[in-house]
Amino acid sequence: MKRAILAALGLASSFTLPASAEDIKVGLLLPFSGVYAALGNDIETGFNLALEHFGGETDATFEILKEDTEVKPPVALGKAKKLILQDKVDVMAGIVSSGVLGAVRDLVHGANVPLIVANAGNDEATGANCSPFITRMSFSNGQVNRPMGKWLHDQGIGKVFTLAPDYAAGRQMIDGFVSTFAKAGGKIVGQEFTPFQKTQDFGPYLAKAKASGADAVFVFYAGGEAISFVKQYDSFGLKSDLPLYGSGFLTSPLYVNAEGPAAEGVITALHYVPTIESPANETFAQAFEAKTGRVPSEFAVQGYDAARALIEASKTGANDRETLANALRQVSFEGPRGKLSIDPATNNIVQPIYVYETVMGENGLTQKVLAQLSAEADPANGCEMAPVSK
Ligand code: BEZ
Repeated sequence: MKRAILAALGLASSFTLPASAEDIKVGLLLPFSGVYAALGNDIETGFNLALEHFGGETDATFEILKEDTEVKPPVALGKAKKLILQDKVDVMAGIVSSGVLGAVRDLVHGANVPLIVANAGNDEATGANCSPFITRMSFSNGQVNRPMGKWLHDQGIGKVFTLAPDYAAGRQMIDGFVSTFAKAGGKIVGQEFTPFQKTQDFGPYLAKAKASGADAVFVFYAGGEAISFVKQYDSFGLKSDLPLYGSGFLTSPLYVNAEGPAAEGVITALHYVPTIESPANETFAQAFEAKTGRVPSEFAVQGYDAARALIEASKTGANDRETLANALRQVSFEGPRGKLSIDPATNNIVQPIYVYETVMGENGLTQKVLAQLSAEADPANGCEMAPVSK
């Protein structure tokens, strides 16, 4: 059995297979604890599923070494150093938080280690701080939120109050939305950034939103914070008078059931919903459901596509840091999200964005697509992409 499959089953480290020239050591850097632990676990499940589905298409074998970032940039930097300097990985994948991505960017760039970003949307990592060694298979924070600014204004919403956690992703997601909402003629009547990983009571912020005169509220929250926020928004009695919009992580299928009826009617935008109708998505969604008993989330699909990108890159014969970095930037395939490619100007993924409403379906909460907004490539945002060099 190939090591790729063993790794997917969590058995790689207990088997000693003869080393081959095509063994690729992969450092999987994800939060397995902290506010984004569920996201990290879902990315890993998707990653392993792609190894099972596509691992047989390459001669390469993959040895997976996992480290927990704890959603703490200094901890993540230490773990990344261990993977690169001590374990000597050929490639790294993962990273959920934009703060963590900002912290490890110089290390991976300086060490010439390819990094496949499987979540963190930090705009700078594919903008002013872009690197030929960083390829993003997830989204950028601006990319997910810019289309929603114009769309919301087109629905007749003129005044918006925004809320997000106070760290890189929160600020960039809101900036992306505000840039297009304001350009379309909308007005931001108030903004709050809540202490990241520390806010349990959103009441004082919701009181400000209520008093602001806004027509609607637009937010970014994810993971445990999204569950608390959506529930408190509903129990504060705001949902009927002040409709809630946001980036789609707010009502991710990963935890929408924990939000329950409070999530019903919330409208958000994202690069993946499990209800996309395509053969590639149906195959993926069925396999994911068979394995986990639930529908896949955007996090699962990002892990799946990150591993698929690695397999595609290895099929070109790439097997060390430089050749993998080069090949990863050139992958393109049809995945559950649709046709995916990497923008050579930034190394960020190009993909459509879906506006969806969380509605009650026959089997519980589900995602009703209201609009598909065109495939978005980011502006270069100061990225001057250099060739891969040793
Ligand atoms: C981020 O920090 O980039 C992020 C975290 C969770 C969901 C989406 C983005």
